[in-house]
This record gives sequence, C-alpha cells and structure tokens, in this order.
Amino acid sequence: MRTQVAIIGSGPSGLLLGQLLAGIGVETIILERSSRAHVLGRVRAGVLEQGTVDLLGEAGAADRLHAQGLQHAGISLAFDGRAHRIDMTALTGGKHVTVYGQTEVTLDLMQKREASGLVTVFETSNVALHDFDGAFPFVTYDDRDGVTHRIGCDVIAGCDGYHGVSRRSVPEGALKSFERQYPFGWLGVLAEVPPADHELIYANHERGFALCSMRSPQRSRYYVQVPADERVEVWSDDRFWDELRRRLPPQTAAAVTIGPSFEKSIAPLRSFVAEPMRFGRLFLVGDAAHIVPPTGAKGLNLAASDVRYLFAGLREFFSDRSQAGLDAYSAKALARVWKAVRFSWWMTTMLHRFPETGEFGQRIQEAELDYLVHSKAASTALAENYVGLPY
Ligand code: FAD
Ligand code: DHB
Repeated sequence: MRTQVAIIGSGPSGLLLGQLLAGIGVETIILERSSRAHVLGRVRAGVLEQGTVDLLGEAGAADRLHAQGLQHAGISLAFDGRAHRIDMTALTGGKHVTVYGQTEVTLDLMQKREASGLVTVFETSNVALHDFDGAFPFVTYDDRDGVTHRIGCDVIAGCDGYHGVSRRSVPEGALKSFERQYPFGWLGVLAEVPPADHELIYANHERGFALCSMRSPQRSRYYVQVPADERVEVWSDDRFWDELRRRLPPQTAAAVTIGPSFEKSIAPLRSFVAEPMRFGRLFLVGDAAHIVPPTGAKGLNLAASDVRYLFAGLREFFSDRSQAGLDAYSAKALARVWKAVRFSWWMTTMLHRFPETGEFGQRIQEAELDYLVHSKAASTALAENYVGLPY
C-alpha cells in the first residue's frame, strides 16, 4: 500500500489533519490502535477556542457544532464564598469560546471521513515507523487478524497522543523533554441534569479545586480535585455530589441539580513538552508532543493549532514542492505551545490545593484571585489566553 501522509492515531488531531488534507486532494491513511467505539467513548475536553471552531469549519465538519455548540462570553472564578464573573467578551473585543464535547468533535470528523470514503484502520497493533530520516519513510502494522502490512508514504504525522508510538520512535538524544507532575488528578462526572449555571465556574476552595461545566443545557460535566493515587471506585455518586457542593459558594451549591452519573473517571494532571516536533519526515502533533493540565482548557485547542501549522506546511510541500513551511513547523507550533503550557500551569497553580504550600500558599492564592477579579489588566490577561492567543 502507498499513501501521501500516513497518520498515526484517530483522535481529534489525526482526524482533523486527514480532513483538511482531503480538502486539497492529498491522500491519507489513518492507523488507530483502539476500536471506533472506544475512541468515541472517551470523554475529555469541552471548550473550543474560536480558531479551533474555524478550523473545523474549514474541514467541513462544523455543521452540528454551529447548531448545537454553546457560545460562552464569560467564566466565573469562585473563592471566598462567592463567584466573580470575568466578562471575556468585553475584555477581548468581542471574542468568546464554544462549549461542545470532544466526543462530538471526534464523531463529526469520523462521519465526514467515512462519508468521503477515506481509509481508517482500527484495532491495529505493533505500529512501527521506519526510515523517516530519509525521503522514503514507511509504516508497518498488524491488522486485527495478525496480518502484517506495509504503507509507503511521503510524510508520517504522529497524532497518537501521549502514550503513542511516534514520539518513542525518535532516536534517543534527538528529543529534549520538559515535565512537571502535579500531586493530584481530576475526578470527572457526567450527568443528565441541567448545569448549575449557564457559564463555567472554576472554584478554589480549602478542600480543593472544583469545576462546574456542561455539555448541553440538559447535561452537566463536573470535576473535583482528588489525590493523584485516588481510585474512582471509592467515589459513589452521593459522595461526589456532597464533595462538589462543599467546594462551591452557597448560591452555586444550591443550584446544583443532582442525578445519577453515567460517566465517572479520574485524569492525572501533568505538563509535558517534547522538542523539537519534527524529525525528518516525521511530525509530532497534539498530545504526542505536549500535555497540559486541563485547567486552562487548552489541550484539544493546542492539538488543533498544531494541525493548522502542519497543514499549511504540507499544502506548500505537496502543491509547490516547497519545504519552507515544514521547516518552520516545529518552531511555530512550539512558540504557541509554550504560551499555553504557561497559562495552564498558572491556572492550575492558582486554583488547586497543593499539599506542600500550606497556609502561606493559600494566602498567596487568595491575594492573586482577589487582584485578578478586581484588576482590569489582570482579568484581560486571563481572558485573552482563555479565548485563545492569535496564531
Ligand atoms: P488523543 O486524543 O490522545 O488521540 C490519540 C489517538 O491515537 C487515540 O485514539 C489513541 O488510541 C491512538 N493511538 C495511541 N497509540 C497508538 C499507536 N501505537 N498506534 C495507533 N494509534 C495509537 N483540551 C481542551 O482543549 N479543552 C478542554 O476543555 C479539555 N479538557 C480535558 C479534560 C480532561 C478530563 C482530559 C483528560 C483532557 C482534556 N483536554 C482538554 C485535553 C484533550 O482531550 C487532548 O489534548 C486531546 O485529546 C488531544 O488530541 P490528540 O488527537 O492529539 O490525542
Ligand atoms: C472542561 C474541561 C476543562 O479542562 C475545562 O477547563 C473546562 C471544561 C469540560 O470538560 O467541560
């Protein structure tokens, strides 16, 4: 088999890149380790920057997003017993974010790919990347019957997330990585109940961080900070709802509608960046190259901005036979990545309880939050990062 771009991973970055390339007539094959149902069942991000929405539109996969996505003009920061609203739209000259689940983004892109008759091979194993330091790379994999296949290509796009094979295929010493683990995770719950508020509420509380989010006017998404080694089994629905409400201001707690959860999982928090994001004909994209803690809602949006830069480079490569865009990919992507890494680290540091910082750390957080919600300059800095920095 042969294709122009072999894409490893059928998450949002692989699917989006595939759809954009299809739009300019470039062939792709996507190799995915999991089943289609498993990929679609993973509940993750919920907040899209305008640039991400625009790119999904360019890929022809934004009809349902435009019809069902919820435009949000602000968020609230809750501390000291009350919620303080940040009017992001007013502070950024009219920008907003869109609340629309990653599960839906993935489904829309998959359906578009299937409707175009493009190939995705699910349930692959032993995916291996070869000869990407030269002009004739190829990928091998085993299908679900154990038969080995080989795909020759011009370029390999490593869109296979943090645990994928692409980054691990880079020769030792060619990568420099930067990492910070946080001593806590997020326990997330989905429930078919109306959200506590029409916008998101990020809460700093002495018992730990909490977040009120949503997927639709009938479906709520809530998170609470838990220790890094916590097991989800010890969290009954009752315990979750009690803990969530204890961490929210009284007015918000009273507005929480309780119901049975239909999804409950714990995600670890870490910051991670691997540099560079290109090795010859192999390009790392999205979570394969970087992870941010979810507090700033940036992971999926960064995956989309990497795709935007790589797509521009590949268009030049295939249309004009110019390498210039591909040569610039890593530096351009990383400049934006590090700003989001900084923002996500800052939001995480300001809003979570850190075991080691004690009362001094808590007072510093309170001072920072108080300053943030009362200073237009500080609120503007938060707002312009949250809605998404320019490309
Ligand atoms: P992934 O989604 O990880 O996709 C990689 C794909 O590659 C997977 O399908 C995987 O099965 C496949 N794969 C892996 N290894 C192999 C292999 N060897 N061979 C073949 N295929 C392979 N981001 C935001 O922007 N906003 C938010 O609000 C937000 N909230 C979040 C909340 C939580 C609880 C979590 C966990 C994450 C959140 N994120 C958020 C982050 C966001 O979900 C990720 O950044 C995003 O999924 C990255 O997309 P990706 O396509 O790069 O990687
Ligand atoms: C959601 C996730 C986030 O990380 C965030 O900052 C806001 C919302 C969500 O899943 O809805």
